[in-house]
Amino acid sequence: MGLRKDFLWGGAIAANQVEGAWNIDGKGLSVADVATYKPNVDVKDYRKQVGVTKSDIEKAIQDTDTKYYPKRRGIDFYHRYPEDLELFHEMGFKALRLSIAWTRIFPTGEEFEPNQAGLDYYKAMFNKMHELGIEPIVTLSHYEMPLALASKYNGWENRKVIDLFVRFCKVCFETYKNDVKYWLTFNEIDSVTRHPFTSAGIIPDQTDNLLQAEYQAFHHQFVASALVTKSCHEVIPGSQVGCMLTKLTDYPNSSDPRDVLASFNKNTMNYFPADVQVFGEYPPLVLNYFKKQKIHIDMTASDLEILKENTVDFVTFSYYMSLVSSYDENNLTLTTGNTIVGGKNPHLPVTEWGWTVDPVGLRISLLQLYDRYHKPLMIVENGMGAKDELTADQKIHDDYRIKYFRAHFNEMIKAVDAGVDLLGYTSWAPIDLVSASTSQMSKRYGFIYVDEDDLGNGSLKRYRKDSFTWYQKVIQTNGTSLD
Ligand code: BG6
Repeated sequence: MGLRKDFLWGGAIAANQVEGAWNIDGKGLSVADVATYKPNVDVKDYRKQVGVTKSDIEKAIQDTDTKYYPKRRGIDFYHRYPEDLELFHEMGFKALRLSIAWTRIFPTGEEFEPNQAGLDYYKAMFNKMHELGIEPIVTLSHYEMPLALASKYNGWENRKVIDLFVRFCKVCFETYKNDVKYWLTFNEIDSVTRHPFTSAGIIPDQTDNLLQAEYQAFHHQFVASALVTKSCHEVIPGSQVGCMLTKLTDYPNSSDPRDVLASFNKNTMNYFPADVQVFGEYPPLVLNYFKKQKIHIDMTASDLEILKENTVDFVTFSYYMSLVSSYDENNLTLTTGNTIVGGKNPHLPVTEWGWTVDPVGLRISLLQLYDRYHKPLMIVENGMGAKDELTADQKIHDDYRIKYFRAHFNEMIKAVDAGVDLLGYTSWAPIDLVSASTSQMSKRYGFIYVDEDDLGNGSLKRYRKDSFTWYQKVIQTNGTSLD
């Protein structure tokens, strides 16, 4: 069978991890702009890496430093995007997933009029993409909510944020209605409970019941996502709106039924945000979990109607790794990955950051998602963070990256052969960028190397890695040549 002829091969980035230019052309501060690079914190200690307090934020607001706030400088994509898009085009990209930074359009989230300079910036970028034949896939919220909304409303905990987000999205739809067909609402929507601040603008010490705040934030995001889906369909006939889930594929640690049950529970909670967005209602098991945990969500009858009437058109997900679960955590050796700690699978290797490498897990994930949702799928993030070395003759021999992608593509193609309707694949990330969790530059994902270190030293010059040529060939042959 093979991949469809119009398969959307490409890469994925997020504004806050590449653009830099954090305080120019009217941009406001976002939650990403206060994320610090913490050289002395273990990169696997994800709670310390992504955790933040009110006083950290106050300090960050006073600080104009970019050295320890790497997302403020990114890789200067803001100014260098034409050159970077040309490189993506050279690889043969059919699509690029990117996000629109809310704070470039509404600096605090509460203005009545959008910032024209921000709108113009993305317009120029979409023009360039169309000139190069690259289809934009736009994420409307990728860990970059206006900081002002986090401080004032505790982010998505407050219902007020729904209207503000819908207003931002509507402006995007009206402005880019001729430029963008594919839209994603919330990046890794399930991540609210893993890193509430980056994901939902919740400052933990601004609430005395964090779990309650997190699930309330989930609910508000679901309603916002549904309203935005509706608005997108109205403004852009023929547009496609997708949800985006971190697929945290979990296996039982053994065939002990208690381990199977523990794993089932993990997967149920991972799926639940996509369930709501695809089926338009909460899964009964999750509602019962809320009851048991005494989580009371403010959920109106009209919210439930909105959810039911405005479900997504397709399902997208990130896939990096799998984990194992047991009824007794003492049976497990723990490892980390994607801001989660879980059981390490003894059959699989892990990266330097502890993320399990599991290509077959990608096939399993595709089959599970298609079987569950019966909707077209798109893999919008997959890749491997690694340290690369720029040799004296300015080459990067990243055979480990090629090996990783080759194994994942093989499994992806097998899933398609099994009948999965897969629209495309965008790697994370086609170019080195600032890590979401650790704010490192040295955790490199790209086919393109960027000369910049963790503290911002470097020329920012771009170099093609060995994987660049390899991916180019994969795209050229629509996945039939993976050697
Ligand atoms: C996903 C995020 O969780 O993983 C990306 O959507 C992120 O923003 C990617 O960059 C890889 O994670 P990290 O922490 O290695 O950058």
